[in-house]
This record gives sequence, C-alpha cells and structure tokens, in this order.
Amino acid sequence: MTDAASTGTTFQPRVFSGIQPSGGLTLGNYLGAMRRFVDWQDKGLNDGFETIFCMVDLHAITVWQDPEALRRQTRELAAGYIASGLDPAKAILFNQSQVHEHTQLAWIFNCIARMGWMQRMTQWKDKAGKNQQNASLGLFAYPSLMAADILVYHATHVPVGEDQKQHIELTRDIAIKFNNDYGVDFFPVTEPVIEGAATRVMSLRDGSKKMSKSDPSDMARINMTDDADAIAQKIRKARTDPEALPSEAEGLDGRAEARNLVNIYAALADQTVDQVLADVGGKQFSEFKPMLAELAVAKLSPISTEMARLMEAPDEIDAILRNGAERARAIAAPVLKKTYDIVGMIR
Ligand code: AMP
Ligand code: TRP
Repeated sequence: MTDAASTGTTFQPRVFSGIQPSGGLTLGNYLGAMRRFVDWQDKGLNDGFETIFCMVDLHAITVWQDPEALRRQTRELAAGYIASGLDPAKAILFNQSQVHEHTQLAWIFNCIARMGWMQRMTQWKDKAGKNQQNASLGLFAYPSLMAADILVYHATHVPVGEDQKQHIELTRDIAIKFNNDYGVDFFPVTEPVIEGAATRVMSLRDGSKKMSKSDPSDMARINMTDDADAIAQKIRKARTDPEALPSEAEGLDGRAEARNLVNIYAALADQTVDQVLADVGGKQFSEFKPMLAELAVAKLSPISTEMARLMEAPDEIDAILRNGAERARAIAAPVLKKTYDIVGMIR
C-alpha cells in the first residue's frame, strides 16, 4: 500500500475556491475573498498555474432558496467576481451545477467519509441548530461535496476564510482515507490558505461582529451594489469613539470600531495600518470619515457600475459561465474517470 501522506507525490500547484450564491455581497466578501482571488489569479498567470473559481449553487440549496432568486444571485455573484477583476481569459470561472463531475465524485466521497466526521463539523452544528432531524441530508453531506469541488481538480491550495478551515481539514482526511483504502497515491492533500486578521471586515454598527449580508441592519454593511451616496452615508453614520486617531497600531487596542475603519482604509488603499496611521494619526473621525468615504467610493463605484452593467446583460454572464464550465470539465472529467477505475466501476 502506498500512503499519499508519506510517499509525497508532487502535484502541480492549482488553486480552487468557491462562494455560495446565497444573495448579497458585502465589502467583507470583496476584501476577504474576491480581491484575494484576483491576487491568486495574477500569481497563477505569472507562475504558470491554473486558478479556478466557482459559484457553488449546489451548496446554496442545502438550505431553501427560491429558484428565481437563486438564478439571479448566481448571476450577481458572477458579476461580482468579474467586476472585482477576475478575468475569464486568465482564470476559470464557472457554476458548480454545470460541471456534473462534482456531484459524481461527491457520491464516492460520501462512501469514504464517516458519519462521525460530519457530525463534528461546527458549520453543520450551527446551521442545523437544535433541530438536526429536520435539516436536509444535503446540509449534513455539505463537506463531502466541498471536498469533491476541490479534489476533482486535484487542487493543492484553497484560499478561504478561517471559518472554512475545518472543512479543508476534512477534505484532507477524505483524500488520505481514499488513498489508503485503495492503495493509491491519487488525491493531493490540500493546503488551506488562510490569510490574516486584516481581511476580517467588521460591522459598521458593532466592531465585535463580522460584516455580514445577514445582519438585520443594512447600515451595518457596505454592499458591493451600493451607490456612492449610500456608501458615504453608511461611513458617516458608522459607530466610532470620541478619541482622535492614534499614530501607531497599538493605539487601536480596545477600540474595535476605530480599528475596523482603519483596517478598511488600509485594505482599500493597499497600505499597512501603520502607514495609514502615520498619515492620519491625531485626526478626529469627523475628518477621517470623509477621507474613508472618498476612498471607498473611488474603489467600489467602478465595481458596482460594472456589476450593474453585467446584470443588464445576463446572456453575457451565461456565456462566460458556459465557457468556464467547459474548461473546468476538461480538467475534472479525466480525474473522475480515473477515480471510477480505481474504485472498480466498469467503463
Ligand atoms: P459568505 O458570504 O459568508 O458565504 O462568505 C463568502 C466569502 O467571503 C468567504 O471566503 C468569506 O471568508 C468571505 N467573507 C465574508 N464576510 C467577510 C468579512 N466580513 N470579512 C472578511 N471576509 C469575509
Ligand atoms: N463552504 C464554502 C463557504 O461557505 C464555499 C465552498 C464550497 C468552497 N465549496 C468550496 C470554498 C470549495 C472553497 C473550496 O464559504
């Protein structure tokens, strides 16, 4: 038997990530996911590896989605990816349900993964809540489909937020068990790529909560589709404290709201927090907020304008996704075929 973890077959680097089209995209999604994907796309182009980004609609329906809303949200997510700088000529951009190999591999993984592994997943426990008996079977099997998303491309690196780390660890467990059970060295043991705290964008109303599309207050978040007036108004009304801005990062300790606004500024300006504070230290929020609003509008309005244009051209989006799905399938189909051979299916 060969053990993948110890034989160390080298797999070509390949990046995969996905976002659920469950509606609403925020500044948090942009800074924490989209923009990082664009960085990976450019790195892939430079260093000669493939980058693949997906709208995981099959994951979205593990909880109820209105069909028309799902179609619109999937196109909106595609528009968000493209408007943020993902270029279908440089990266593969597609919709999960259009590449059937994902669900086919997920079935095999359902037979590899153990009930106990799934039961330990914190996202399952959070989303199913107290009434697990009433949650969908799909919600329980969610991580197995996610492992298939990744491994059907032999992806080696998966940029995700901290909350997805456990699912990537499970993906590794599935790859290792498959390799061990069948005595092969076929699936890579994928690395999660989790980036630092600066990419965690917090609510504008409460600096201890993540900025989220599900926050009941729209004032707590900046949506990627907000216009300039809305962005400026939300920043003007953002919660702060009465102190002036400090000149060094330590001065933000215990000031969650102040830290969040400075973090957002730094991320949008592509500067470090210390660089920002070197410029704005000593200023009052009444002076800093208009600077932040101006920067946010300058960075986000081209994105929201492009998203709005694309949403008026759904055929253009659909054509991009069809093309992406074809290119994705060209990688996924041989991997699935080989998996079927390993497992003992007749061709
Ligand atoms: P979600 O919208 O929560 O499904 O997340 C989609 C992607 O956006 C994931 O990669 C998250 O890690 C990222 N993301 C969502 N909200 C934030 C936030 N407030 N700050 C940073 N990243 C976020
Ligand atoms: N579970 C991820 C999330 O909620 C979305 C996702 C599905 C994903 N499949 C993936 C992320 C594969 C990375 C790789 O954010």
